[in-house]
Amino acid sequence: MALKLNEMSFESPKLPSVALPTMASFGPPRKAETLKTTLVPLREVQVPVKHSMPPEKMEIFKSLDNWVEDNILIHLKSPEKSWQPQDFLPDSKLDGFYERVKELKERAKGIPDNYFVVLVGDMITEEALPTAWTAEENRHGDLLNKYLYLSGRVDMRQIEKTIQYLIGAGMDWKMENNPYLSFIYTSFQERATFVSHKNTAKLAGEYGDTELAKICNFIAADEKRHETAYTKIIEKLFEIDPDETVRAFASMMRKKITMPAHLMYDGRDENLFDHFSAVAQRLGVYTTKDYTDILEFLVDRWKVKELIGLSADGRKAQDYVCELPLRLRKLEEKAQLIAKRAPSISFSWIS
Ligand SMILES: [Fe+2]
Ligand SMILES: [Fe+2]
Repeated sequence: MALKLNEMSFESPKLPSVALPTMASFGPPRKAETLKTTLVPLREVQVPVKHSMPPEKMEIFKSLDNWVEDNILIHLKSPEKSWQPQDFLPDSKLDGFYERVKELKERAKGIPDNYFVVLVGDMITEEALPTAWTAEENRHGDLLNKYLYLSGRVDMRQIEKTIQYLIGAGMDWKMENNPYLSFIYTSFQERATFVSHKNTAKLAGEYGDTELAKICNFIAADEKRHETAYTKIIEKLFEIDPDETVRAFASMMRKKITMPAHLMYDGRDENLFDHFSAVAQRLGVYTTKDYTDILEFLVDRWKVKELIGLSADGRKAQDYVCELPLRLRKLEEKAQLIAKRAPSISFSWIS
């Protein structure tokens, strides 16, 4: 399979699963006003910067074609070798289908509503990811969607509405059509989804639903593979262009890594994402501590502290990212306290 790294970021309309969003998702800046009134009322959307990478840097990405072939494509799994949602769900063409569904519903009864809030939010995130990611991510959304439908615990119509709103609203991840920023973002984001699915797996096990735990673990394993691919790309960029890469790292962290579903809306709750995030924090599925842990992991993974020969701006960026975990640690306790004290909100997703 021929794949060029420069195409991954800019040109290819059809990308492999660990590829970045296509040109379509990097398209013309949305009109903030239109978005505000039709799709995400009351949530401020900034007009994104369109291109921020100096054009001469394109050569770097063109030179990596063969390296990508040998080092990144090995992390892709063919559909023949991949698991499929049906492997984990009752088979509707078999006689015992209704009994299997009954068992699934029975297991789901032992799980608290808050857990379903988080699982729904995770599923909506997977469902609304841009098409470039869907080759693998699509299975995640499909599996969780079908599981939730069969569980009988959620209001599917409200969930489906939220997905439609989110796909319409798009995502504002501040990558600026810049592959340095994009690969930093996806490295962070894939690890964040890995952490989140791993934690939902752990909790499902604690609630006694080992089948659901298995589902979340399989999804987490995919996310881990995606993380490996993206972090390898940034590792390579640190090797050949450390100055631009460390400045991109600092730039993304200054802007904060925004979750892909932060514009979610169900037609009712104008702060739906914040409310969902508070539940995830309270439940320990994805917390402020996880955010800092991921940052610290990446700083170590890319040996940022050991970089030498940087420009003045590069050194400033290096100091910023290396010191940031310590600063964020101080906020963890406060964030946990705020989440704990937050009034419990009812979600339209839960029946
Ligand atoms: Fe995913
Ligand atoms: Fe992923």
